[in-house]
Amino acid sequence: MLKIRSFKLRLLATFLLMFGAGLSYAADPSKGAEIYSMHCASCHGASGISVMPGVPNFSKSEGLMSSDRALITFIQSGKAAMPAYRGVLSNQDTLDVIAYLRTLN
Ligand code: HEC
Repeated sequence: MLKIRSFKLRLLATFLLMFGAGLSYAADPSKGAEIYSMHCASCHGASGISVMPGVPNFSKSEGLMSSDRALITFIQSGKAAMPAYRGVLSNQDTLDVIAYLRTLN
């Protein structure tokens, strides 16, 4: 009985480790680049140099001073002419695109 239980616990621990690793928030800037060209470049410019007034210039790090967490909230909520991406981009997609934005300066 004890043996079976500890085996189950070991299985559970293995499962949690694998699941936990899958949930890791490592951001992938190259995937972020694809998302950026698809969803963001029309306003923010292919290389982060804004193409319309009132849009921050990412090549000068404008609009990128906040934490990743604050930027996720901003991108998901939108503001003025900036569309909301909640339901369009997952948290992981959003983190990937933020990692890419931070490479544009
Ligand atoms: C339709 C045009 C448009 C698109 C598309 C767009 N943005 Fe924006 N974005 C804006 C505008 C306008 C602002 C400035 C909003 C303000 O502060 O009034 C902005 C601001 C930002 C900021 C600055 C946040 C801050 O704290 O000042 C970030 C980061 C950002 N956008 C990321 C993105 C990302 C990532 C995408 C694609 C997923 C995207 N934007 C798509 C127009 C756009």
